[in-house]
Amino acid sequence: MAKPSGNGRIRIGIIGSGAISQIIHLPTLKQLRNQFEIAALCDISAETMSVLGVEYGVPAHAQFTDYRALCASDLVDAVLICPMGTHVPYAIEALRHGKHVLVEKPLTSRLDEADAFVAASLEAREKHGAVTLMAYMKRHDVGYQYAQRLVRPLADKGEIRFVEAHHIHSRNERYMDYFSVIRPSDIPASAVESMKQQYATDVELALGTNPDPRVARAYHIMTGSSIHDLYTLNGMLGRPVGIVASEAWDDGFCYRTMFEFPNGTKVNYAWIDIRDVRRFQQEFACYGPDIRVSISFCQPFIAGDVSTVRVQQMEPSPADPAPYGRHDGTAHAGDASPGLVLPGGEGWPAAGTAHTEKCVTAGFDNQFKREWQHFHACITRGVEPVVGAQEARDDTAFIIEWARATRGV
Ligand SMILES: NC(=O)c1ccc[n+]([C@@H]2O[C@H](COP(=O)([O-])OP(=O)(O)OC[C@H]3O[C@@H](n4cnc5c(N)ncnc54)[C@H](O)[C@@H]3O)[C@@H](O)[C@H]2O)c1
Repeated sequence: MAKPSGNGRIRIGIIGSGAISQIIHLPTLKQLRNQFEIAALCDISAETMSVLGVEYGVPAHAQFTDYRALCASDLVDAVLICPMGTHVPYAIEALRHGKHVLVEKPLTSRLDEADAFVAASLEAREKHGAVTLMAYMKRHDVGYQYAQRLVRPLADKGEIRFVEAHHIHSRNERYMDYFSVIRPSDIPASAVESMKQQYATDVELALGTNPDPRVARAYHIMTGSSIHDLYTLNGMLGRPVGIVASEAWDDGFCYRTMFEFPNGTKVNYAWIDIRDVRRFQQEFACYGPDIRVSISFCQPFIAGDVSTVRVQQMEPSPADPAPYGRHDGTAHAGDASPGLVLPGGEGWPAAGTAHTEKCVTAGFDNQFKREWQHFHACITRGVEPVVGAQEARDDTAFIIEWARATRGV
């Protein structure tokens, strides 16, 4: 197994040094300097790497334009995989060399690739003790985990009847433009062309030839963006078991779906593009027997933004006649005064007529930072990864099924 280097730090190599690496992963790794070392970079843009190399102290000999060379290198123990397009060939290559992998979403659009990834992950675990963690960062969000702790036990008992979930998406640039991401001039035209080709092949494999363009676009967005909703819902409710109805409109920039989750939970879901209106909203409201738990996710690129959870329940009110005075007016042994039951005392009911709303900000720790800390714990302490290869494979399969069940309107 690839072990931490002598100083106990995990040496990380990064494949794909674009926007997400520059905005999130590199600064986060720098912050976690006691646990990680930024040991190598890989990108098809040498220009990008030379700028980042200076910024993060990665020497020229640790800058690779070929991902295979980075995966084979003794300079790294673990690899973060975040180019655009499929992530499978990179992940398999790294696992083959016994490196731990943290794989950005989406894994791939192809089921055959997803299956190969699961096999490679199992083999690398067995042979090298290599860890595979999917970078599903919202599963590490403290606000989400707070809501999950309330909702999951109810969902497992079939007591979550309904979830209203929506993802209102502003154009990514509305948030990313605040960061000075490098826009290199040396990306080979062939790479851009092969990315377009990959996209066309993926769509054809999933939806056949000449699919409805609205559905094809929605499929692309489901893979890239709704994946965040799918894996967070999975964590709270279990895996979806069916799609009741699904439609895409506005050229595929809007879609809504009714899902069935286990134990009878129904989910109403919408993904809506509000284009340049800079107001990201990803919100789930979960309806239990005597509780509503709503989570409003933070915008992940804004430092200090936090997810909030609202918990609504009924509590006894002084206006409630039953706990305040017994109906029969008789005194009972142990009562503080005849006919009076004190709040919290025996006879005081669990619920009443007072509506309460608790607004929780469970913590300020950034979800990406927690994701990296979890990756470190998986490697150094054998903690089981929160999301491994199999879940990502099942997500790939489900998204294909979802797109196929969607009609353009
Ligand atoms: N978790 C999140 O919230 C989140 C947010 C943004 C992006 N992402 C994911 O991260 C990935 C990258 O997104 P991005 O916004 O950084 O894209 P980007 O286009 O800005 O960066 C991708 C980088 O990969 C490089 N690249 C392309 N092909 C390569 C190859 N064969 N070898 C090495 N490098 C190669 C490109 O030159 C570019 O620098 C995507 O899969 C995206 O879905 C995740």
